[in-house]
Amino acid sequence: MKSKTNNLNYKIIKLRSIDNGSNGMLSFFENNIDYNFEIKRFYYIYGASAGSERGFHAHKKLKQLLFCPHGKIEVTLMNENEKTIIILDEPNKGLIIEPCTWREIKWIQQNAVLCVAVSDFYDESDYIRDFEEYLEYLGGLSNENTG
Ligand code: TYD
Repeated sequence: MKSKTNNLNYKIIKLRSIDNGSNGMLSFFENNIDYNFEIKRFYYIYGASAGSERGFHAHKKLKQLLFCPHGKIEVTLMNENEKTIIILDEPNKGLIIEPCTWREIKWIQQNAVLCVAVSDFYDESDYIRDFEEYLEYLGGLSNENTG
């Protein structure tokens, strides 16, 4: 079922972590416990220079868990009504992005690493890469839900 997207649909979570003192920290997450989907794919982005930007798209159905195990990354989330900026700068800070949310991602720190665990295999047809098209897509969903 498609959902109406009047509010930005995201959640910031603190990933469960074990503190082993000078031996470091261990953070982890598990399907259907820390987020309400099953991970089918994991990807990560590294080697981006400070100030560089990626994203500029929304997904129709894909659910995602983002975290930054090293460095600092700024994630801007948007829909037709709202915009928010989330800073990922701690290895145990997770950001769950629900479908139909426009995202723009900026590298604040050189060589920051962005890890993304997602609910499905890669499928280009799940992407909306044009903001005008994204707004039209949301409009279509609203009509479906109200009509
Ligand atoms: P994209 O998701 O557009 O990344 P970003 O928004 O960070 O720039 O992906 C960039 C390219 O990599 C695009 O051509 C699709 C390809 N890609 C895959 O082949 N498999 C994947 O799992 C992902 C995430 C991307």
